[in-house]
Parts: sequence; C-alpha cells; structure tokens
Amino acid sequence: MASVNQMSYWMSTASDIVTRQWHLFLPIAILFSSVIFLGWRSSLIEGNEDNSDSNNTVAEIMDKEYVTEVPFHVGEVRVSRIFVHPIKSCRGTSVSEARFTPTSLESGCNVSSNIGLNSVHQNDRKWCIVDAQTNAIITAREFPKMVLIIPRLDVDSSSPHGGNLTISFPKESGCSEFKVPIAPTPDMLRKWEVLEDCKMHRIFVMDGYISQSISSSPDTPTKTLSKYFGKPVHLLMKGPTPRECPPTSAFPDLKATALYADAYPLLVASEESLSEFQRIVQGFASKGKEAAIGGLDHGRWSKGKVEMERFRPNIVLKGAGVPFAEDFWRTVVLHSSNSTANSELTLLSKCTRCLLPNVDVHTGVRDAAVPLKVLLKFRMGKDRENMKAACFGCNGMLDKTGVVKVGDLVTIKEWTDLEGV
Ligand SMILES: *[C@@H]1O[C@H](CO)[C@@H](O)[C@H](O)[C@H]1NC(C)=O
Ligand SMILES: *[C@@H]1O[C@H](CO)[C@@H](O)[C@H](O)[C@H]1NC(C)=O
Ligand SMILES: *[C@@H]1O[C@H](CO)[C@@H](O)[C@H](O)[C@H]1NC(C)=O
Ligand SMILES: *[C@@H]1O[C@H](CO)[C@@H](O)[C@H](O)[C@H]1NC(C)=O
Repeated sequence: MASVNQMSYWMSTASDIVTRQWHLFLPIAILFSSVIFLGWRSSLIEGNEDNSDSNNTVAEIMDKEYVTEVPFHVGEVRVSRIFVHPIKSCRGTSVSEARFTPTSLESGCNVSSNIGLNSVHQNDRKWCIVDAQTNAIITAREFPKMVLIIPRLDVDSSSPHGGNLTISFPKESGCSEFKVPIAPTPDMLRKWEVLEDCKMHRIFVMDGYISQSISSSPDTPTKTLSKYFGKPVHLLMKGPTPRECPPTSAFPDLKATALYADAYPLLVASEESLSEFQRIVQGFASKGKEAAIGGLDHGRWSKGKVEMERFRPNIVLKGAGVPFAEDFWRTVVLHSSNSTANSELTLLSKCTRCLLPNVDVHTGVRDAAVPLKVLLKFRMGKDRENMKAACFGCNGMLDKTGVVKVGDLVTIKEWTDLEGV
C-alpha cells in the first residue's frame, strides 16, 4: 500500500493547489479528479484473475455486445425505485417520492421554504461520519458495519428544525438511538463547531458541522458513534461552503455542487443492468471451478439475488429493455406526474466501482467476489478516463428543484456516441 499512500499524499497536496487556482488548472483538474482518483480506487481492488477459462465463460454467458449503435430502440422508461442515504455509507431507504435540488435529493438547506410545495423531504448524503483524529471521512469500504447503522428522517413541517434524523444501531452494539435536527436553526448552527478540512478518499476536501443531539441525553452523537466505531468519530452535517464537483471529460466546465456523495449529486442505474449483472453472476457461479473467480461462493451465488441497494443508486429506471442503456444517455427528461415542471437529468460520467458494493447490506459482511470481481469480467474498459475500472450506473445531476416519484415517465432527450457517457 506504500505507493497508494504516497500517491494519495501527492494528490491531496496537488488538489489543494487545484482547489485554490481552479480556473488555471482545468485540464490538470480533469486528470486528477478523474484519472488518478479512479486509478486510486481501482488500485484498491483485490487480485483480479485474468485467464482464458473465465474469458470463455463471459463470452458464453454474454453471447453478444449489448449495444452496437446509438441511438437504439428503447421501450417506455419509468422511474422504478428511489433511494435516499441520509448518512454516507449507512443504510439507505427506498422511498416512493423525493424532492430534489441540483445538489442532491433534497439538500435540505432551507427546508422551511419548501414546506408549502410538498411535505416530502429526503436528504441524500447530507451527513457522514468523520474520524475525529484525522478528519478523514469514513466509508463502508473501511468499516463495513456502517451499513448496519439506520438513519430515519422524521419530517415535521411545524418544527423549527424541520424534524429529526433518528439514528439507531444493531442491538448487539449496545449503542442507543439518538436524534439530530434535520435542518438546524441558525441559532443551533452558531453553537456547532465546523470542521473545515475533512478529506474524502484522501483527495477531496470539504467542510461539515459536528452534529449535536436535540435531546438532553448525556451521550452526544460523538460519544455514541465513537463507541460503535471503537475510535473517536463525529457525525458531520454538510457545512456552509458549497462543495464543487470535479469536471468530467464530457463536461470540462462542469458547474455542480454535491454534499457527501463520492463526487456527483446523483447516481442513476437501471433494473435491466441489475438483472443482467445477476444473470452473469449466476452464470459464473453455476459453472463450477472452471469459472475461476477467486473467492466466488458458488453455492450462494448460483441462485442468490444481487440487491440494488449494494450499488447505492438514487434513481433507478426501468423499461429500456436493454442492459446498460443508461451508459448512452446524455440527457433524459423526468416527466413530473404532478404540477411541478419537468426536469432534465444529465448523466455526467460512468460510475466506476470500488469494493463498497461487496458489503452485504443486511449483515455488514464483505463478499470476496461479488459484485466487483464479476463486474471486472465484463464491465471493464467502459470508462475512457479509467479503462481498468469496472462500471455500473452513471453519475448525474438534475437541472432544477422538483419532486421525483416512482412511476414518473422518462424520455431520452440526448444520446451519447458509442463510447457512452
Ligand atoms: C482475458 O480477457 C482480458 C480482458 O479482456 C485480457 O486482458 C486477457 O488477456 C484475456 N486472457 C486470455 C488468456 O485470453
Ligand atoms: C429560505 O426560505 C425563506 C422562507 O421562504 C426565504 O425567505 C429565504 O430567502 C430562503 N433562503 C434561501 C437561502 O434560499
Ligand atoms: C423529534 O424529537 C423530539 C424530541 O425527542 C420529539 O419531541 C418529536 O416528536 C420528534 N419529532 C418527530 C417528527 O418525530
Ligand atoms: C398531485 O398534487 C396534488 C396536490 O397538489 C395531490 O393532491 C395529488 O395527490 C398529487 N397527485 C399525485 C399523482 O401525486
């Protein structure tokens, strides 16, 4: 790991400079934020066997390329599922509708102004857990049991702080539930400490408020969470400084902000991509030893379902009828089923995957092979910025504030070329 550490140190120093002199460094920024960041992520990938047996297996199971020309015919596409993950890497929730802003599914910066429109508030990745000694933001890559922490949004439009984020823990941890305000009042925020230099993936620097409980319990969120993590940590709520998203090769002048998502406001995936992925996992698992994926549990995965929750998308689409169709959509229109205006969802880049989806969302245990090693067999070489990474889903952003509902119609406004998003 020495080279990874050195590279990360070098990258974080360089990215500080880039942050200050952003306008002078666009081409370099693209390189850092995309190529090197993704390279760093894929360097964490455990041994990936390449051999002719498993190549043959992929060829047999896949039988053809999914897409050979664009545009291609798609069926009627609709939003099939919506997920919100209030705390980065902790359990997500499936919801039937969510308000959104260009920054997140309901960034909640000004909840009170939204109450007239709709009572639904979902706050995706507005909170995260940070190591109190290093200020490094912790993810389920390093601490898989994070996925067992359950955040729940109890919205209350009559409350001055918009309601409660209630955080609960598995019984055996001995940690008791606590509540923090969803949208703290200015008075509350004045008393909360801001950490300025929190690092995500050792490269991105961002701020956050150390969240305080709304109850008068003697245990602060910091104390309870530190017990769960076995070291000093804080619950952070995104701070006041907007976090700029790195440019992508398709959008070198990208103007976007995100909360504590990996890099972009939203992750989009499709049911067809998941079904195809599952078919390939089951294909490998039912082949026996010759499929040669180290650590693949053939018994479990020859029938086992792969849950969408592992990939932690926000908006899931269904109906195209072609796996990975979303790779070729530059802009789609979400047709609101209600009075709010239609919104455009732009897909910014493919999502390159790390080991996080290997964590079982119900047990917090990391699988040795699924999904990453299987994805590497047939979803590598799709992202022009990092040909060694495996892709699933696309990063995106919405162009305005609105409400998305399960069942909303989605039409394709603009296609990419054959290289995809
Ligand atoms: C299997 O496929 C990978 C990726 O396409 C390639 O790099 C490797 O050389 C192939 N192995 C064999 C033995 O054909
Ligand atoms: C927040 O909402 C209030 C009440 O609607 C409004 O007056 C104010 O301008 C909003 N602030 C921001 C920053 O949007
Ligand atoms: C939020 O927590 C407070 C304090 O425990 C409680 O009085 C209130 O009912 C909670 N609100 C919601 C919407 O659950
Ligand atoms: C549309 O909005 C109205 C109120 O503005 C609400 O009563 C109705 O249930 C909504 N319809 C759908 C399909 O969500």
